[in-house]
Amino acid sequence: MTARLTDPEAIRDRFSEAMSDRPEKLQKHVKRVERGALRLAAIHELDRDVCAAAAAGHDLFRHCRDAELIALSRHYHVPIGEHEAAAPIVLHGPLAAAYAREAMSIDHDEILTAIAYHTTAHPQYSLEALAVFLADKVDPRKMQRDPGLLAVAAAAEHDLHAAAAMFLERRLTSQLNSGEMLHPLAVASRNAFLQQTRRA
Ligand SMILES: [Fe+2]
Ligand SMILES: [Fe+2]
Repeated sequence: MTARLTDPEAIRDRFSEAMSDRPEKLQKHVKRVERGALRLAAIHELDRDVCAAAAAGHDLFRHCRDAELIALSRHYHVPIGEHEAAAPIVLHGPLAAAYAREAMSIDHDEILTAIAYHTTAHPQYSLEALAVFLADKVDPRKMQRDPGLLAVAAAAEHDLHAAAAMFLERRLTSQLNSGEMLHPLAVASRNAFLQQTRRA
């Protein structure tokens, strides 16, 4: 039996190796997210290795088409609810975490939770998970396309909960305005982060 991988530095290297055959554009995005997460880790004094590992593995399946995401999710026992069936792209985080645990023998709950929920965030997210979530959302390429994200990036320098609440409010508002479904975890995360911000 393969030994379980529990050391964040070794997990980061294993993810980077797995990413090396992914499309180049995706590899570049993942490297920018890793740099951004490490920057936030330095500002907020977080665990750098956990941030780097979660960033390195977060988009292992981002390049897959809907049918492939559904088939792989079934294979790795990722639950497919109504939101996932309507927008299978939401599966790429939970699938990456399930695959990492089952096929890559990675055993680190905080890293895998950060990866699993990086699309919606999670109300119980750690600060490290929030740093990766935000670094992904304010990837400089995404800010070029959507300058409104600059305010989220600025907020992330001071308060990770406030920045994540701001990001989710923007996205939920635009989904409401265009008549799209809201993911319950994104709503619950926004409420939890707002409370954390008010408490701080
Ligand atoms: Fe992603
Ligand atoms: Fe990403």
